[in-house]
Amino acid sequence: MPTEKNKKQKLSVGWIGAGRMGYEMAGRLAKGGADVLIWNRTRAKAEPLSKYGAKVADDVSELAARDIVFCMVATWKDVKEVITNLLKNPRARPKMVIECSSISLEGSAELRAMLGKHKIQYLAAPVSGNAKVIKAGRLSFVCSGPEKAFSEALPFLKMIAPSASYVGDGELARIVKICHNVFLGVVTQSLAEITLLAQKAGVPRHAFLEFMNQSVMGSTFSRYKTPAFVNLDFKVTFTPHLLRKDMDLGLDAARTFEVPMPLASATRDLIQAMIGRGWSEQDFATLLLQQAQASGVTLKSENVEVGDGLS
Ligand SMILES: NC(=O)c1ccc[n+]([C@@H]2O[C@H](COP(=O)([O-])OP(=O)(O)OC[C@H]3O[C@@H](n4cnc5c(N)ncnc54)[C@H](OP(=O)(O)O)[C@@H]3O)[C@@H](O)[C@H]2O)c1
Repeated sequence: MPTEKNKKQKLSVGWIGAGRMGYEMAGRLAKGGADVLIWNRTRAKAEPLSKYGAKVADDVSELAARDIVFCMVATWKDVKEVITNLLKNPRARPKMVIECSSISLEGSAELRAMLGKHKIQYLAAPVSGNAKVIKAGRLSFVCSGPEKAFSEALPFLKMIAPSASYVGDGELARIVKICHNVFLGVVTQSLAEITLLAQKAGVPRHAFLEFMNQSVMGSTFSRYKTPAFVNLDFKVTFTPHLLRKDMDLGLDAARTFEVPMPLASATRDLIQAMIGRGWSEQDFATLLLQQAQASGVTLKSENVEVGDGLS
């Protein structure tokens, strides 16, 4: 009977994408002792992973000879491009592809069909959490596809994240992730609104958020966004463009399933307005800056040491 450890050692892993998320996720596999060959369009971003034992490929097609290939890029268009190039290798095919980017149900179904033609198993496995959450060992996967593929992938998923939920067949994981990120956008906008309201009425942001974080409304998310809101540190964890993509995915799905989503629609346009103002290269938490501007408030860092609940 093979143990989990043996299984991990037997199977080789290919990893596509060393962006903010992919770098940390692949890093956990390499640090955990998995045999990882990584490819990133900008090779230099993948190279530091060699210090954990990962090998770096020059071309994505080299990953075709790996047993399992993970993919973590940006949009469906990008996923399609890299997987098409992966499948161009005439000599090899991976046994399984695990796709983790946040993409549409339709894109995911097209990918399943592309891979199915080559008898490659496919698991849709998007995630919740940013790069710091990955480092803190608190990322979560939501997975769908054949249950057998999920069981085979599980030892690897567990090296990256403590939690991997299986939600059923086909592309179901995609709608779960889309719903999750619509909530992320709406909650962030709402948190910006109430934080500004409290501040304009005279409550310092750190005091307001300390109370909120300890109340029943506080969450892992509100805690880890608190340093950004208090000290205006908007170093990017997730870009406004990627969040707008996810709001659009949510609104497209809402049209398909005929579900009214007034809060999501308003939030999507507020994110669009923020991008239009040129606030697109910092973290999406700059929704707070936009709310301040709309409220006639000039924000200053409070320079107060506040925890993020992660480190
Ligand atoms: N950041 C978060 O908090 C977070 C959380 C959960 C899920 N997500 C989702 O995870 C995915 C990655 O997000 P991220 O924040 O890691 O983004 P990111 O830092 O912008 O990284 C994007 C990665 O995709 C690669 N890429 C993009 N287009 C490509 C193409 N056409 N061909 C080849 N490679 C391409 C980039 O390569 P280069 O390095 O060459 O540009 C980079 O490795 C997105 O779908 C996002 O919505 C993000």
